Amino acid sequence: MTEGDRLVLATCGESETRELGRALGAACGGRLCVALRGALGAGKTVLVKGIAEGLGVTDHVTSPTFTFVNEYGAGGRRLTHVDLYRIESEDDLESIGWSDVVLEADVLAVEWAEHADGDLPVPRIDVELALGRGDERRVELRAHGDEACGVLARMSLRGAGCA
Ligand SMILES: Nc1ncnc2c1ncn2[C@@H]1O[C@H](COP(=O)(O)OP(=O)(O)O)[C@@H](O)[C@H]1O
Ligand SMILES: [Mg+2]
Repeated sequence: MTEGDRLVLATCGESETRELGRALGAACGGRLCVALRGALGAGKTVLVKGIAEGLGVTDHVTSPTFTFVNEYGAGGRRLTHVDLYRIESEDDLESIGWSDVVLEADVLAVEWAEHADGDLPVPRIDVELALGRGDERRVELRAHGDEACGVLARMSLRGAGCA
């Protein structure tokens, strides 16, 4: 379902979530924050791997759970992948250089984005992944800002989701 600023779909299996991410990355022409929320194992990292693919990142993308911030080159742009799972306060956020991370990223993908609530830039797409039965995930994307709505509108969703 697409409503301009909102897209809701279900994915069945890792490859469909990855394909959704790929479509998002491919549609993303400018700066964008992708703020991901969802339980452990919901598929946040899988989605970011897809975004990287869509942006043209050729490096292997790994979870930044222990490094907090991973950066990748994507055809002259920078994909910054952050995991805020262990971040519990404003001080923790600053200890990883959050302000600079936000300033310097072209595409900023943030896992556990709720740990930086209020400190997330626009244009932004909030992504909520909910566990379903087995390999099913309900994915809701919500765009903030005209540029982010444009990204949602440009996404080509062939093969990305079963509903
Ligand atoms: N529909 C789905 N979308 C994404 N991952 C899925 C799906 N179904 C099963 N999985 C599995 O769930 C796990 C998601 O892992 P990961 O992306 O690391 O989660 P998170 O980063 O949210 O903790 C992977 O092992 C993946 O194979
Ligand atoms: Mg993860």
